[in-house]
Amino acid sequence: MQTSPVPQPQRIGVPREIFPGEKRVATVPDVVEKLIKLGFTVTVESGAGDAANFSDDAYRAAGAQIVSDAAALWAASDIVFKVRPPSTDEVALMREGTTLIDFIWPAQNPELMQQLAARKATVLAIDCLPRTLSRAQKMDALTSTAGVSGYRAVIEAANAFGRFFNGQITAAGKVPPAKVFIAGAGVAGLAAIGTAANLGAIVRANDTRAEVADQVKSLGGEFVKVDYEEEGSGGGGYAKVMSEGFQAAQRKMYAEQAKDADIIITTALIPGKPAPKLITAEMVQSMKPGSVIVDMAAEQGGNCELTVPGEAVVRHGVTIVGYTDLASRLAKQSSTLYSTNLLRLTEELCKAKDGVAVVNMEDDAIRGLTVVKEGAITWPAPPLKQAPPPAPKAAAAPVAAKKSSHGPGAPMSAKTLTIVFAVLAVLFWAIGAYAPLAFLGHFTVFVLACFIGYMVVWNVTPALHTPLMSVTNAISSIIAIGALVQIAPPDAGVNGRPDGLILWLAFAALVLTAINMFGGFAVTRRMLAMFRK
Ligand code: NAI
Repeated sequence: MQTSPVPQPQRIGVPREIFPGEKRVATVPDVVEKLIKLGFTVTVESGAGDAANFSDDAYRAAGAQIVSDAAALWAASDIVFKVRPPSTDEVALMREGTTLIDFIWPAQNPELMQQLAARKATVLAIDCLPRTLSRAQKMDALTSTAGVSGYRAVIEAANAFGRFFNGQITAAGKVPPAKVFIAGAGVAGLAAIGTAANLGAIVRANDTRAEVADQVKSLGGEFVKVDYEEEGSGGGGYAKVMSEGFQAAQRKMYAEQAKDADIIITTALIPGKPAPKLITAEMVQSMKPGSVIVDMAAEQGGNCELTVPGEAVVRHGVTIVGYTDLASRLAKQSSTLYSTNLLRLTEELCKAKDGVAVVNMEDDAIRGLTVVKEGAITWPAPPLKQAPPPAPKAAAAPVAAKKSSHGPGAPMSAKTLTIVFAVLAVLFWAIGAYAPLAFLGHFTVFVLACFIGYMVVWNVTPALHTPLMSVTNAISSIIAIGALVQIAPPDAGVNGRPDGLILWLAFAALVLTAINMFGGFAVTRRMLAMFRK
């Protein structure tokens, strides 16, 4: 009888990044261990993790083999993990049929795509992941990279800025908080908003997609609207190119913000398009001396007219930072996040945990990522099958208005309110007429408690509902009074103490409610501390 051959575990190779100044590495030792558990063998080029503070010894301890010859590593690898797109020399080192998992940017690198196809490679471009698939979020390296970069942009700004971010009152005088304006509230922009707000700055932000306003607020920023009605969403979570009218109104608003802000961080971009020029030379000139601009879109031409990509320059007394390697400047953090994204992708490719990666083109996420399959260019992927986008706002408004008169949470109409009150009045009259007197007292307290509870909860901001719950939980421990009354009844002198069982039950109730009470207040304090700056 013939048995089918058992597939051999594949070898994952991690070369040292050769792009000048690149400090990141595609896999960290912790992830090496997990890849080995999936059945793969892992080879790392000697020194690959040095710049990100991962030594060869750490990789060895995790179970990787270390080789010092890059050519040998490429030749031995079935799968290669990388950060920067491979150079022509690296493609030449690639064995035919290798699977490459890497940032590729196919639209910007058509020649590279041809070279990879000629090597009969299978290429998973991590930048082509369909970001709207919630299942794919764990593999979204663009998001993790942009998050790290947004944070670093604020740190670079703080480094170049001559003052504190937070306002302070000191013996030497009052220091006002820094004003930070963020243009573009995508992934990097939101990370920058959160970081700057946490440092104590006053943060304002703008984006053409109005849907991000709530996210800006939730991170401690204020959303500044452009005085022009136009929806900026271009689908898939990205923006569209705006009309001339909008752009003029936006320039006016940005000019006002530039005069007021101490720091501007720009992250505005539409994929595949040159970065929109949002900060003009005149706006830079109007800023206070010592102000800082960090232009995150420098690599795509920059959002500021005076940006020099890759450099920090001073123009009109304003430092303009155009670094294009922000993620690499936080190499340990970005390498750790990136390699975790690659691990999650590898888990998807190797569901059998047998050390063999299977590129399943039926899977939406994998299909989107696969830009070359066994030598055939498969980019761009067909659009995802998904629900049609919501109708434009103007058309949706009347429907929404119609719905609001009936939908849950909507205010009741006067007619409905009258009917509800009439029914309740009849109900109360019936209860009052027929119920025993003792019941009426308790019932009145119950109704009042419901009313006060409703008013209290509804007047507290939803964000504070969790601490509210814990404090009401603590207050509910008032039943401790019941337990105390049982232990030491006011009429104990006349009727004697209660019997043993009641006494013990009351004691147990007292202990438990004390835990509830003190624990509740302690948790509330901790939660409220998280909301304080
Ligand atoms: P993203 O696509 O998530 O965000 C871009 C945002 O800009 C979107 O919210 C979009 O609506 C907004 N936008 C587009 N046109 C606009 C306009 N005219 N006015 C206002 N807002 C506008 O992109 P992500 O991942 O946040 O990256 C942002 C930028 O940072 C990109 O240019 C990216 O290349 C760059 N980046 C730079 C790094 C560096 O080292 N310098 C590292 C990582 C990202």
